[in-house]
Amino acid sequence: MCSGSVGFEREETMAYEPVRWGILSTARVNRHFIPAAQRSLKVELVGVASRRRDRGLAYAAEWRIPRSYESYEALLADRAIEAVYVSVPNSLHCEWAIRAAAAGKHVLCEKPLGRDPGAVAAAFDQAHEAGTLLMEAFMWRHTPQTRALKQLLEEGHIGTLRLIRACFSFQVDAANIRLRPDLDGGSLMDIGCYCVNAFRLIAGEPTLVFGQQWTGATNTDAAFTASLRFAGNVLGLFDCGIALVKRDELEAIGSHGALFLDDPWHCRTPVIELRKDGSVERRVLDPANPYQLEIENFSDAIRGEAVPLLGRDDAVGQARVIQALFESAASGRALPL
Ligand SMILES: NC(=O)c1ccc[n+]([C@@H]2O[C@H](COP(=O)([O-])OP(=O)(O)OC[C@H]3O[C@@H](n4cnc5c(N)ncnc54)[C@H](OP(=O)(O)O)[C@@H]3O)[C@@H](O)[C@H]2O)c1
Repeated sequence: MCSGSVGFEREETMAYEPVRWGILSTARVNRHFIPAAQRSLKVELVGVASRRRDRGLAYAAEWRIPRSYESYEALLADRAIEAVYVSVPNSLHCEWAIRAAAAGKHVLCEKPLGRDPGAVAAAFDQAHEAGTLLMEAFMWRHTPQTRALKQLLEEGHIGTLRLIRACFSFQVDAANIRLRPDLDGGSLMDIGCYCVNAFRLIAGEPTLVFGQQWTGATNTDAAFTASLRFAGNVLGLFDCGIALVKRDELEAIGSHGALFLDDPWHCRTPVIELRKDGSVERRVLDPANPYQLEIENFSDAIRGEAVPLLGRDDAVGQARVIQALFESAASGRALPL
């Protein structure tokens, strides 16, 4: 797998024919995807589709994308496109992942793929039947910082893992899709899913979850807190919010030390602090563009030169925990898994 770096030089060498990509929607998140795709020699960004023809045309011109389509269906019908990036609102992820796979496209779908494990599994079933690949787009997982965290844990720097702590919050404006329950908005789906993803990476699948939410004016969870238990008596605590001050942290706490990440999800300033015996050792890592690493991992996989970093089990397990947390918050009870 090739690593992109911030500074953003195009790669010097090219091992295979670039994968021809299209984008479903003109979402804001595309501003991360498009430059990373255009910078990579493993990718040819061919087209973008919008529900509105005029919007698609203007967007393609603004971002220098060769083709625009008047509908998502039209993009999926274009045989020139091999892979699609699905950046529609959360509630539509599985539907469009399935429709894209049925059209023979490989699919990189924005996180979270879904909150219903059955629907997520159905999307992977469709990809399997079509002989295509599907990956949930947790870009933070592709970074050197995340790999280094895992390695430091495996090397035993903090002794026995006891507790994991994370947070992710910010403020959204009134028109944001994150405030729309019909589009599966809310803080757990939008950003709490990163905390769930990190806990599962570090400690495996939880055995018990307890969630609480503060439901805001639009009936989405404006803030969510979660307490989880994992095998080996490892405990996890996270909070997330879309009506809170901006915060993002991840900490793995052990019997003899703690690993602290101040920027775990975007990895713009990758540093891992090892806090131990009253001192702090800082591991400074090279910056890398998470989106480019993700696109290149998936493009490599399409060309048979890698496996997708995140597969079916990861995405279904992710949905299973999110679903259980929502059920727990609704019932007021802890839920064994
Ligand atoms: N990985 C990351 O770093 C990251 C960051 C931010 C967001 N995300 C994820 O990316 C996805 C999009 O988030 P965003 O904030 O970029 O969204 P956004 O700006 O609101 O855009 C969503 C797009 O979806 C399309 N769409 C299709 N059906 C829609 C509907 N019924 N209502 C509204 N829009 C609809 C629209 O494009 P057209 O009108 O052109 O069809 C719209 O531009 C979410 O799943 C989110 O979780 C990921």
